Amino acid sequence: MHYGQFKTGLRDAYEHRGGIKSLRLGSLALDWFTEIQREAAFIINSGSSSDVTASGHVTNWTRPTGQVRQFSLFNSSGRSDDTTGDYGYRGDVKKKKLVFPQLKSMARFAALFGSSLRNLRLNGMGTQSALSAHEENSMSVRALGTDHIVRFHLPVFSNPKAHVHLDDERFHYREGELYFFHHGCVHAAANHGTTARYHLVFDCFLDETLFENVFPGSPSPDSGFDKALIDDASMQGEPFVFPEFVCEDGRVIKTGIRYGRKAPTPIDFYRNNYPSLFKWLPQTRLAQTTPGA
Ligand SMILES: [Fe+2]
Repeated sequence: MHYGQFKTGLRDAYEHRGGIKSLRLGSLALDWFTEIQREAAFIINSGSSSDVTASGHVTNWTRPTGQVRQFSLFNSSGRSDDTTGDYGYRGDVKKKKLVFPQLKSMARFAALFGSSLRNLRLNGMGTQSALSAHEENSMSVRALGTDHIVRFHLPVFSNPKAHVHLDDERFHYREGELYFFHHGCVHAAANHGTTARYHLVFDCFLDETLFENVFPGSPSPDSGFDKALIDDASMQGEPFVFPEFVCEDGRVIKTGIRYGRKAPTPIDFYRNNYPSLFKWLPQTRLAQTTPGA
């Protein structure tokens, strides 16, 4: 798979027309991953977390149920209960640092993503807990192209009844394996097992360096990260349809994922930034380029 093919797959999935929803990217060496588990247990037992079920939490719009908590591991405050580092632009990364720099195996893992890393979270989900189906905006436009935020999951503690959902498919992610997770799809997560589920969940700014480092088709930057072969990376989930989902702007969609979402294009950039250029165009033409219309 080439970088351009990947971006086409991202766009198709953003519009809920198939595309690339998830990829299995590879696995960590057992000794490295065991150490990450030990470090995660330290964070869980001694770190402070934010409660996603609290109404003021930045992720509460995803309608969590049960026990859902987040340890923020990469931000500018150095506090693991501070969610303000979850968002922001590429330039903000210079101000962010690992909250637990002494945890060397996690730091080695974060280094795989270099300066592309936007946030890093240890997301915990208790038994009989979930994030409801929702859709996020993973693309933005600029004058000459499109920027993508890409999300990854590394399950640290899981069980066979922990699942993630992406555009009408349900997947189980295995401990110690790294996955690409397209958060522009309609997605959800649920734990119906008898043990808590903890995943490292993090976003990166997509560029060709990141793609080469962690996606299949080129050598791994770390001998402890065994990349999947291109043919082994694609994933097929089980069919699973939610009756409704919520969007970032608060809309609740009850008509299924194929409601006509359009990925933004550079035309939208000019329309948003220079509206006077478009005032003479027929309204129907503009409507075709409106994201989410
Ligand atoms: Fe989400």
